[in-house]
Amino acid sequence: MRDYKKVIATTYAGLEEVLAGELENLKYRNIQVLRRAVSFSASLEEIYRANYCLTTALKILVPIRNFKISNSEDLYNRCCEIHWETFFDITKTFVVQPTVFSDLFRNTMFASLRLKDAIVDRFRQVENKRPSVDTKNPDVVINLHISGNDCIISLDSSGESLHKRGYRIENHIAPISEVLAAGMLRLSGWKGDSVLMDPMCGSGTIVIEAAMMAAGIRPGEIGRKYSFQSWKDFSSELFKKIEDEIHHTPLSFPIYGCDISKQNIKKSIINAQEAGVDDIILFDNDDFFKSENKKNIPFLIFNPPYGERMEDGDELFYEQIGDSLKNNFHDCQAWIISTKNCLKSLGLRTSKKIPLFNGPLECSFRKYETYSGSKKWNKQV
Ligand SMILES: C[S@@+](CC[C@H](N)C(=O)[O-])C[C@H]1O[C@@H](n2cnc3c(N)ncnc32)[C@H](O)[C@@H]1O
Repeated sequence: MRDYKKVIATTYAGLEEVLAGELENLKYRNIQVLRRAVSFSASLEEIYRANYCLTTALKILVPIRNFKISNSEDLYNRCCEIHWETFFDITKTFVVQPTVFSDLFRNTMFASLRLKDAIVDRFRQVENKRPSVDTKNPDVVINLHISGNDCIISLDSSGESLHKRGYRIENHIAPISEVLAAGMLRLSGWKGDSVLMDPMCGSGTIVIEAAMMAAGIRPGEIGRKYSFQSWKDFSSELFKKIEDEIHHTPLSFPIYGCDISKQNIKKSIINAQEAGVDDIILFDNDDFFKSENKKNIPFLIFNPPYGERMEDGDELFYEQIGDSLKNNFHDCQAWIISTKNCLKSLGLRTSKKIPLFNGPLECSFRKYETYSGSKKWNKQV
């Protein structure tokens, strides 16, 4: 069994600290926050556990070589020296996923082709055969990172990005990433021990992530495939150990998911069933602007629609959200992710602002607080 030292978990911009917090809770060592990533030390078992348990990581990368290059031939030659046959078997398919910030390469594809050629030639040399490339559903994923002259070759232990938990079988037109939803829940400070509502839940991502977090259901329990399962040293006993150590907590409070679209509620229910949390979440086909009876909901978190999906324009829609919060939710924390422009129209005072991206869109994740009695909502100044 190889003794890996430094491992890199990648994530979205703005989620680095919550990812580091998850790693601390899981007792990882040498945690260091980087840009859109966190590094830490891990054994093979801990690499499996990171993939299985972390909710805010996208990939768990295991660097195997780190060197300087002056041209593409250097990349090929250094990669031919790697004993690829010790990492995976010839029967496994593979793909190279490159990130290149360097003048040494005309294009990113060319760099990944050089690494692919090196892997194939090494196998031919030692085994007289070559493994096949599969770009769609590869067994093994090799990560190539070139920045200037610096090159890092890593085994991508996750394979497909970890945001693909496997429960979203019914898709929404604008779903939020599972990893972003989990990150927003952690950034909001919600501890998984009180009532929560997403009043515009779409396909249910935020409430499904909330229910999993509260019940202690790990992303890996949904049963997706990981690249490390195709490594030569994969130990099914070690993996089973991680599956066996999971304990769920029964919930004594509900989580609510509402949407104006019946179709979306149907999708949410199917997705929640797939994630094993359909008995925790109460779904309702409801218009947020008519939710007069929700005064007792203490915590809201949602991503309203914006832009091209809005028939009457963003301004009016976001004004209505602000009015609905003021009139119908008392003594409540509401966290909303949207564009700065849209959020301006809410007409509410912000108590906290966190910059985040929703896909390529620059967003702000903001907290608003409502009070009952004389302490009314403050108008934004
Ligand atoms: C950006 S999507 C939310 C996506 C969701 N987070 C997901 O991951 O699938 C916004 C949702 O708001 C819903 N919506 C729009 N107006 C609404 C209203 N007045 N009341 C409740 N839901 C509404 C839409 O049907 C849509 O599903």
